[in-house]
Amino acid sequence: MYKHLEKRARETPPVTLSTLRKMKAEDVPISCITAYDASFAALVDLAGVDVVLAGDSLGMVIQGHDTTVPVTMDDMTYHSRAVSRGLWRPFLIADMPFMSYATRGQAMENAARLMQEGGAKMVKLEGGVNQLNVVRALAANDIPICAHIGLTPQSVHKIGGFRVQGRESDAARRMIDDAQALEDAGADIVLLECIPSELGHAITEAVNVPVIGIGAGPEVDGQILVLYDILDITMGRLPRFVKNYMDGASNCADAVSRYVKAVKDRSYPAPEHCFD
Ligand code: KIV
Repeated sequence: MYKHLEKRARETPPVTLSTLRKMKAEDVPISCITAYDASFAALVDLAGVDVVLAGDSLGMVIQGHDTTVPVTMDDMTYHSRAVSRGLWRPFLIADMPFMSYATRGQAMENAARLMQEGGAKMVKLEGGVNQLNVVRALAANDIPICAHIGLTPQSVHKIGGFRVQGRESDAARRMIDDAQALEDAGADIVLLECIPSELGHAITEAVNVPVIGIGAGPEVDGQILVLYDILDITMGRLPRFVKNYMDGASNCADAVSRYVKAVKDRSYPAPEHCFD
């Protein structure tokens, strides 16, 4: 019954939102990775990852689609639940899939499902100021939110491809404003994808919540990558920010440990993984 007290007394208590805020305040890098099933969730937990994302990238790396657009709420709930069963210490975030938060009502119903059935501690949604009403509604109901801006893969058909965002000065300014507005609306974490390193740094300075980057340069509060990319499983051309951690590793667990170490000692990302 008092399982939370028992957990707090352990040597490695579970990571909470307070842990992540403290890590930002103390400048301790946050290591994050995606996972889609219980076995890999347990493996990345043992490797020392702080945050696990049950990401809608599963549409590409598990289901074989070209984009994340076809992923459904049933898919996300199933995979998030499996991941949650494999985790002890890491903080679990689950992705809200495409069109699952088009209205405030839908967003609340689907976020609640990811937390109640999927075991997630936080939900992630894509979009800037266009999502403020949804973020406010979720925050008002105590649903922790990660706001994903920069390259937002669910909008790939509108953007016209997977490309670096925020290179022009007005787009960069808008992204900083978006991040601040999302924080004011109640977002607890900001995730930045595929933007110039300088902009990643500027956004990290501009908000008080932890900022996690993927292709957003070294000066953010934490890094995230897609698990199958670092394990060299993903076929085809990979984004510039990916590093193959199987190179020189003895097995998958060793590769993930090396990734965690590289995030913690800030040797990842190196300049060749970043955008100008
Ligand atoms: O779904 C996912 O894996 C993501 C990461 C790329 C951040 O959103």
